[in-house]
Amino acid sequence: MPDAIFQPLTFKNLTVKNRVFRSNIAGRLDNYDGSGNQARINWEVKFAKGGVGAIISSFVPVLIHGRIMPNYATIDSDDKIPFWRAVGKAVHAFDCKYIMQLSHGGRQRDVPGIEFPIGLSSTDRKDPLHGFECKAMTPADIKETVAAFAEGARRAREAGLDGVELHGANGYLITQFLSSAINDRKDEYGGPLENRARFVVDIVKAIRARVGSDFHLQMKISATEFNNALLFLRHELPGNTVTESAQVCRWLVDAGVDSIHVSTGSSFPHPRNPAGSDLPVDVLAQTYEQMISSGMETLRNFLLFRGGLTGDLFRKQWLDAGVPADQIEGLTLPDARAIKQAVTVPVICTGGFQTASIIRAAIDRGDCDAVSIARPLVANNDLVNQFAAGRDKADKPCTYCNKCLVHVVEHPIGCYEESRFASREEMLAEVMTVFHPPAFS
Ligand SMILES: Cc1cc2nc3c(=O)[nH]c(=O)nc-3n(C[C@H](O)[C@H](O)[C@H](O)COP(=O)(O)O)c2cc1C
Ligand code: SF4
Repeated sequence: MPDAIFQPLTFKNLTVKNRVFRSNIAGRLDNYDGSGNQARINWEVKFAKGGVGAIISSFVPVLIHGRIMPNYATIDSDDKIPFWRAVGKAVHAFDCKYIMQLSHGGRQRDVPGIEFPIGLSSTDRKDPLHGFECKAMTPADIKETVAAFAEGARRAREAGLDGVELHGANGYLITQFLSSAINDRKDEYGGPLENRARFVVDIVKAIRARVGSDFHLQMKISATEFNNALLFLRHELPGNTVTESAQVCRWLVDAGVDSIHVSTGSSFPHPRNPAGSDLPVDVLAQTYEQMISSGMETLRNFLLFRGGLTGDLFRKQWLDAGVPADQIEGLTLPDARAIKQAVTVPVICTGGFQTASIIRAAIDRGDCDAVSIARPLVANNDLVNQFAAGRDKADKPCTYCNKCLVHVVEHPIGCYEESRFASREEMLAEVMTVFHPPAFS
């Protein structure tokens, strides 16, 4: 029987050479104004070289108001197109496809920048984890944002990229509309599921009207939201179920979506995404300082992380709300299976994958058509080439320690798990490779 991992995957408008996608992940590699840097190209090339069939970019804001953190390249104006063309060209040299994740953070803005002190959302309610404040979008705001997504898709196409993904997962703006726990609107964009889905369906229709029907468009969705998973958020509503999300996906496919990328959790991060074997509060006690002024609860959280006992308690709560370390690999597969049964388009599943036999079995069973991998590829950029050479797992796998996650707000993106390296110096040297070649060589 041919190896399922290395069978091409054909979508309506795109064929990818194998079944492993680099999931959305990057760091603060670019300029404050949203123009791109060589470091982002270096970052993406690492994974293209390492054998993945396609790279799905990290969040790419369609508007400055919608960015999550500065120093991520944006797609908010035509002058950004040449940079993204260069990214696509560099990745294509390795027979790897490039899909841009179109995003708007809504109220979930870790470091909001100087331009827009208040985020826009479906609601006026601040987010409960960090206390990011926001105001509910007006009909004019909605119209402007829908149009910005369509313009983002048009620019991605003009840049020669292979498709776009809507960031409809992990608590960002589209989730803030979809979620029964977050969206408290009284107009046609709130209330029943069909109304909560209207915003994203409008976006899909606007994209199709702008770029036509022959450009790849996929949607990342948090199938189950687990909005009140944390003990101190038990008073919140649980959020959407996988049954509701399956219905949303059916509407999206009817409106013109070519694939669904299944994730989980109503916020980012969430105890289940990226699911961790640890929450490194000692690192948070340093890097979370970047966020102190961003939300009403961020100073409280920072002080909790800095206290020995309170830090341990926070860490315990976080881990208790997640899954045991030996269940992280493929934790979203049951949701992917449910979505796959509901739609006619290919389904990609994210969450912990790093073992060839587990990935192969998930595809063979029909739980999903492909997997996306973030952290394990940060740990082993060439994991897919290792699978091709017959290895089932890397010698030094990702430990799911989530140090890459908690470093990313302040430090360069990379693997910060010292136990995977001969020394701290070797680890830092590997992290810094993202800056080579430098911008002006
Ligand atoms: C540092 C970091 C940054 C991430 N950035 C994004 C992002 O920009 N957009 C997104 O949809 N998911 C993002 N994710 C989530 C990953 O794409 C992935 O879905 C999640 O980590 C689970 O997969 P994994 O276990 O293979 O890491 C990020 C994860 C990490 C650790
Ligand atoms: S720091 Fe390294 S080992 Fe830890 S989760 Fe990130 S990639 Fe995996």
